[in-house]
Amino acid sequence: MRVKSDMRTEYYRITDFSGPDMDAIRKAGQIIASGGLVAFPTETVYGLGGSALSADSAGKIYRAKGRPSDNPLIVHISDIKDAEKIAYVNEAYYALAEAFMPGPLTVVMHKKDIIPDAVTGGLDSVAVRYPDNRVALELIKAAGVPVAAPSANSSGMPSPTTAGHVMNDLDGKIDMILDYGECSIGVESTVISLKDNGCEILRPGAVTADMLHTVLKDVGINPAVINPSEAGDRPRSPGMKYRHYSPRAEVILVDLPEDRFIDYVNSVADDKTGVFATEKEAEKFRCTVLLTGDDYTPEELNHSVFGLLRKADDLELGKVYVKLPPAEGAYLALYNRLIRSAAGKILRPDTEER
Ligand code: TXA
Ligand code: MG
Repeated sequence: MRVKSDMRTEYYRITDFSGPDMDAIRKAGQIIASGGLVAFPTETVYGLGGSALSADSAGKIYRAKGRPSDNPLIVHISDIKDAEKIAYVNEAYYALAEAFMPGPLTVVMHKKDIIPDAVTGGLDSVAVRYPDNRVALELIKAAGVPVAAPSANSSGMPSPTTAGHVMNDLDGKIDMILDYGECSIGVESTVISLKDNGCEILRPGAVTADMLHTVLKDVGINPAVINPSEAGDRPRSPGMKYRHYSPRAEVILVDLPEDRFIDYVNSVADDKTGVFATEKEAEKFRCTVLLTGDDYTPEELNHSVFGLLRKADDLELGKVYVKLPPAEGAYLALYNRLIRSAAGKILRPDTEER
C-alpha cells in the first residue's frame, strides 16, 4: 500500500564542500542524531540514513522504504576502529579493513548490545561498512553516531544511483536528500560474513572473491548468490529471499553469444521491447537500446545497470532483453543483480521452447 505523506523533503546539492555545503551536511547530521532520515551518496549507491543506535529510527527507515523489518540494515562508520563500538571484531576484520576500507565491502560480525535488535532484524550479528565517499563520511562524522543505511529505494525497486532516483521513490517520506551526483560504482557493496580462517560472500560487489583471497585463505560464495532459489526460508543474509531490483518491465536474461543474441532479440522485438547494448552494438538492434557504455566491461555494466532498469520504466517498455553475463569474477555482482531482477529465470533459446 502506498501511504501518502505530506512531510517536506529538503533537497541540497553538494558541490565543493565550501561553507554552505558543510552547513547543509551539519544540518543533515543533526537530523540523523535527533531521529530523522537523510538520503546520502556513497561510492556504491545512495543510502537512506538514520541513527544506528535508535530502534525508532530503524522503524522509520523500514516504513519509508516499505521494507520487511526482518531484513537487517548495514551500519556505516567513518573510521576503521569505530567497528569496535558496535561489533566484536577480530584480526580478519583488521586485515580486510586495511586492504579494502574505505570501500565497497561490508563485514558481518557478532553485534554488541549498543545496536538495537530493530536495526539487525533480530539477528545477533551486525553488518559494518566504511564507505568511500566524502559526503557520506562527513555526514557520519556530523551525525556523531553510526549510521544505519539501506539503499535509498522503495523496497523491490532497483537501487538508486542518483539523487533523482531517490526523489522518485522517497520524496515526501524522508527529511532530507544530499545530492552529490552519480555514484561511481553503481552496485551495492560486497557483503561477507567472517568464518574461522576465511569468509563467505553473501552478496557480491566490486570487491571480488579473488580480491578477498589476497587477504583471507578461504573465500566461499553462498549458493544463493548464483541461484536465488537456494536462499530458502532462513538464508544467511535475509535480503536474499526478497524480490529485488524489479522494474515494472519484464527483464529477460538470454544465454546466447553476441551475434546470436542480436538476431534473437530482433526476431522477437516489438515497439515495447528494450535491450541492453554497448555503443558499438547499438545500431544492430531493431528496438529501443539502453546504452551500457562503450564496451561490455563489468565496471561499465555495474555503473549503468540500475539506472537503465529505471529508464526502462520511464520509457514504458514491456520487456528488456539482456545478454547473460558470466557468473564469475568481476561480472558476478552484475549477474547476481540481473538474475534477481529476472526472477531467477534464464532463457536458453538453443535448448528450450519459450
Ligand atoms: O553498498 C551498500 O551496501 C549500500 C550503501 C547505502 O551502503 N547499502 C545497502 O544496504 O545495499 P541494503 O540494506 O540495501 O542491503 C543490505 C544487505 C541485505 O542483503 C541484508 O540482508 C544484508 O546486507 N545484511 C545486513 N545485515 C546483515 C547481517 N547481520 N547478516 C547477514 N546479512 C546482512
Ligand atoms: Mg537494497
